Amino acid sequence: MVSHDARGNPSGSGSSVARDAVETALWRMMSFYDTPLADLDAATAADPGWALPHVMRAGFLLSLTEPALCDEAATHLVTARTLIDGAPAGEQTHLDAVQALLEGRWQTACQRWDAHLVEHPRDALALQWAQLWDFYRGDANGLRLRPARALPEWSAGDPLRPFVLGLYAFGLEECNLYPQAEDAGRQALQADPRVPWAVHAVAHVMEMQGRFEEGSAWLRQHQPAWADGNGFAGHLWWHKALFRLEALDVAGVLRLIDNHLSGDAVQITLQRVDAAAMLWRLHLLGHDVSGHAAALAAGWPAGDAEAGYYAFNDVHRVLALLAAGQGAAAEAWLARCAQRALDACDVRRSNHAVAREVGLPLMRGLLALERGDADAAVDLLYPVRTLARGFGGSHAQRDLIDLTLLAAAVASSGSSRRAVGRALLNERLMAKPLTPLTRHWLQRLGSAQEVSA
Ligand SMILES: [Fe+2]
Repeated sequence: MVSHDARGNPSGSGSSVARDAVETALWRMMSFYDTPLADLDAATAADPGWALPHVMRAGFLLSLTEPALCDEAATHLVTARTLIDGAPAGEQTHLDAVQALLEGRWQTACQRWDAHLVEHPRDALALQWAQLWDFYRGDANGLRLRPARALPEWSAGDPLRPFVLGLYAFGLEECNLYPQAEDAGRQALQADPRVPWAVHAVAHVMEMQGRFEEGSAWLRQHQPAWADGNGFAGHLWWHKALFRLEALDVAGVLRLIDNHLSGDAVQITLQRVDAAAMLWRLHLLGHDVSGHAAALAAGWPAGDAEAGYYAFNDVHRVLALLAAGQGAAAEAWLARCAQRALDACDVRRSNHAVAREVGLPLMRGLLALERGDADAAVDLLYPVRTLARGFGGSHAQRDLIDLTLLAAAVASSGSSRRAVGRALLNERLMAKPLTPLTRHWLQRLGSAQEVSA
């Protein structure tokens, strides 16, 4: 007799103990409460012949975007491959998709999950993972439309439905559909207050609309649900710092960095990325954060496989090095990334084209700014900003490109490059009310009349 999971998807295990452990692991992956590893161990102990827990362990490790974890992920996939015969098609799809992730073929993995979800729209693991790698690839339509295709097939009382609604809310936000995104996020939290991804989606809406005081209050309101024992807490602290930065509350930002975005609070590269991005924003405003940045850069993994693994992370490493005043190290890092991006052996990797089109030009623009060639920085960064979605992250994260361009425009010579800065400020003014941060850049760039004179 074929077994099924809690949503009716065929399962490769006849052990209810193993299936329950995998269900808990899945909830942890969607909610970020603790890691799923102990539950996956329990599933394997209950059913050593089940491939899926090994696939889930590999996928979880790869989701951290740490090259140092790839070997361990590969070992789990080899084990899974020995157990996969006779498993349901969905579990074979997960194995093939995670194998594609391991090989750097992120788009292929998402295509596998897409095809599977057409017939199995209640496969929560496929929805969760595909959204994560949509995010890493900057595929806003995928973020929105995949959960949209699935949600009507979910029953209202399913305990994982609020998490899928949270995925949808974030996809709506990344497609600039802010009222719908906020509504979906609030609905998810009404059904289950412990959905950090939905808290996050609404915070993004408030960020994009310049509602920085409301955003701080929103995160504070939901803080009991996300601040303790949750793997997503670091990113939500980062959002809180972003709201304080919009208010030009630099002391508040530094306090958040000291308490939540430095030292022992930063354990993995996803957290390093957020810390670097916040330090860079302060650096652009003229604050000396070199001590924090040097400590952050020193903790970044040093293995040979690091450079060129993921362009988004690579750029943030440059931000940390430059904010630390380590221009030579940043140059050397760029050279290693460039070498990897041209490696013909890795031609199938999704990241390599992105590195060539987005990552490397961005790093060159950042380096130009730091060596005092603001004109070159504007010329390098401005064309890339329209392509930058492809290297992943959110609008809010990629906003650091515009902020860097503003700083470069201020320091540039001649009116044409300052006009670029003014044009970017006009975008901000049309998108959200005049915030203290936007006013700061307006004052530094001068009036529109001065720019055009
Ligand atoms: Fe975010």
